[in-house]
Amino acid sequence: MQNFLRGDAANLLSVGKFRLCPKGCVGKIFAYPQCFARRCRRARFRFHMANTILVGMQWGDEGKGKIIDVLTARADIVVRSQGGNNAGHTVIHRGMKYVLHLIPSGILRHRKICVIGNGVVIDPVALVAEMDGLRALAVNINKNLLISDCAHLVLPYHRILDEQRELRRGRIGTTKRGIGPAYGDKAARTGLRVSDLMQPIVFSKKLQAKIIENNRILQALGAKPISFRDVNETYLAAGERLRPFVTNTVVYLHGAMDRGKQILFEGAQGTFLDIDHGTYPYVTSSNTTAGGACTGTGVPPHRMDRVVGVMKAYSTRVGDGALPTEDAQLAQMLHNLGREFGATTGRKRRCGWFDAVATRYAGMINGIDEIAITNLDGLDQVDPIRVCVGYQLHGKRLDVPPCDATQLANCEPVYEEVAGWNTSIHAARKFSQLPPAARKYVRFISELAGAKLSMVSVGPARGETIML
Ligand code: IMP
Ligand code: MG
Repeated sequence: MQNFLRGDAANLLSVGKFRLCPKGCVGKIFAYPQCFARRCRRARFRFHMANTILVGMQWGDEGKGKIIDVLTARADIVVRSQGGNNAGHTVIHRGMKYVLHLIPSGILRHRKICVIGNGVVIDPVALVAEMDGLRALAVNINKNLLISDCAHLVLPYHRILDEQRELRRGRIGTTKRGIGPAYGDKAARTGLRVSDLMQPIVFSKKLQAKIIENNRILQALGAKPISFRDVNETYLAAGERLRPFVTNTVVYLHGAMDRGKQILFEGAQGTFLDIDHGTYPYVTSSNTTAGGACTGTGVPPHRMDRVVGVMKAYSTRVGDGALPTEDAQLAQMLHNLGREFGATTGRKRRCGWFDAVATRYAGMINGIDEIAITNLDGLDQVDPIRVCVGYQLHGKRLDVPPCDATQLANCEPVYEEVAGWNTSIHAARKFSQLPPAARKYVRFISELAGAKLSMVSVGPARGETIML
């Protein structure tokens, strides 16, 4: 309500042209003249996107990049709140493929402001390289990018520590981008931040102490020590390139909301990679769930209007850890189609059937209002399609995933079978144009996940999307 009464809506109120939505769309009040009961859903979409958190409901790679890109059309600002360049968001735009790692995908659209929030861990050298790569593809990066001065830095010793830990027992299957060690330093209160990088003398002093400390650890692990001088030089140079973009993004976001701007919070990774709610220890080191959007940006919970969950029509996972519905045949079929290779590391993703136990739990944790289903076309030639509706653990039925990684690995999925559609659905642009079996399948899995279906993606391009 507070959000709504500001900006555009406040103007409408002042001229007396408003009408409250009798259905209270998604639990909020939308007061545009078009917002009558019969048409409110469309009006809400078209005129008032509201602050939206977008999260992955599975193990990451749900196709969020594509859905974010579609939703960005209605947002003014796109914000990243967690993770780092471990993320890989693929967006196909005008036949070109863009893979974004740290920069929000709003960068591909005109007049959108992109913010890298305080909760993100930034490798400045990788960020500069990403900016250069996008500029080489004629993407404008100028006053449309803001970087939080409170975001923590990923340093070369984080990457090497990550690599070293991955060589040992108990590996996680990380992206080796130094994400875990960087968040480790943040939690230990020994991290370096963007604000340090903006003060070269302070930065060099802190960096030197960190490199002395980390070189001892690296030597103990049998890895080569790193040179302070090289890192200092490269990072300060990258810092100078980033300086024009660095600011207090909390103040910027609050000012923008006061002016009635709509924010899209672009989640990275997925619910089951969340450090608290995921399949620990096989997780990433940030809060990938909806709450992370608040802590990672400084936008408080009461300013959030809706949460959109993205889920694939089946399950995938890269890295180690349980994937209860994993199926080698399904994986082979998808890989043969050239699908399901990691956007950041190129690794083959593990694949399995849709897991309703996991996604229902994700709905609970994130407070999902609406669901977007992606990659439905990946199942075009699969018949029958299996859906996991429960787990069996030592003869007992479970309706939520167990906390313990070993127990989860021992869970046996309970499947229901659904008929496939055995035809290409790429050309469908309306729900009614989908084959009946495909409609039945998406209805079935969104009901199991427990939220309203609002989008179905039938191909990688922006247009290959069905809005409900
Ligand atoms: P890290 O984030 O590199 O530490 O990796 C921890 C786990 O999260 C590993 O299983 C990775 O494969 C996984 N992971 C990290 N980022 C992504 C992503 O963007 N998509 C999918 N999986 C990811
Ligand atoms: Mg990805």
